[in-house]
Amino acid sequence: MRVPAKVNLCLGVGSVRPDGYHPLATVYQAVDLHDEVTLRPRHDGQVTVAVHSEINLLEDHAIPTGADNIAVRAAMLLRETLGRPELGGDISIRKVIPVAGGMAGGSADAAATLVACNELWGGHLTRDELEPLAAELGSDVPFLLHGGTALGGGRGETVSPVLVGGRHHWVFATSSTGMSTAAVYAEFDSLNPRRVPEPHVPDALLAALRDGNSRELGRTLSNDLTEASLSLRPDLADTLDVGVHAGALGGLISGSGPTVMFLAESGQHGFDIARALVSAGTCADVIQSSGPVPGAHIV
Ligand code: C5P
Repeated sequence: MRVPAKVNLCLGVGSVRPDGYHPLATVYQAVDLHDEVTLRPRHDGQVTVAVHSEINLLEDHAIPTGADNIAVRAAMLLRETLGRPELGGDISIRKVIPVAGGMAGGSADAAATLVACNELWGGHLTRDELEPLAAELGSDVPFLLHGGTALGGGRGETVSPVLVGGRHHWVFATSSTGMSTAAVYAEFDSLNPRRVPEPHVPDALLAALRDGNSRELGRTLSNDLTEASLSLRPDLADTLDVGVHAGALGGLISGSGPTVMFLAESGQHGFDIARALVSAGTCADVIQSSGPVPGAHIV
């Protein structure tokens, strides 16, 4: 299975709900940066996971390798739904998406595992039928079943496709330490002690996407978690400055961070921004990518 990372082109956040989640109004895009998930069947009811990576796995955000790994939880949830406790498998994940980076790497692995187990175990559930299971696993897992570019509502789990004209060129500046999504939302709450307005997706952003207008898209990128992420990681402001001064059409914290994303006019323009980021030395790594791409798929 190959499964992409996601970015949020806008991330509108409302005040915390009674269930502890925040209402979101977002536009997701799946980008060409993929984890690979392989599944081998077992017939003893065991579900195991092994994680391999050529990128640096973070010491401060170690990926769990037991029952609390989100891919293992995905497999368990599916077999429970199918009523087949004897089903098992060895899950192997080749990690490319930054860990705890605000790009939904864990959620991507969960989405891929749902699709892989459904296929291997003959579950015959459609993507739409997998959606509620995906939502139970995490707010952005349903989006990664579908990919492309989509509006996200609710706590992020309700998705509907958005019309996009053309391709977007992205540059990602990664960090050598991760960030906990929950910690960033908690910081958002302490910075916004009064109720904030209900979030909405800006019309100008949707128009820029529809028209394939990258300049306008760059101007309309937004993220309500920016202040909270920068409050926990003030150093990210330096990376943002470097990319914007290098001529990016727009620069933004990706999701809850700490990855910083930049929109470029073309692959060559992206390369120029990447070079400026590498020579400034404010980030761990620089990755060029593009979107939209499809969600979790079998290869
Ligand atoms: O849904 P997911 O498991 O990815 O969320 C991780 C954490 O991020 C949640 O436990 C919650 O603290 C926070 N979160 C939130 N509002 C959302 C999504 C996530 O507060 N819409």
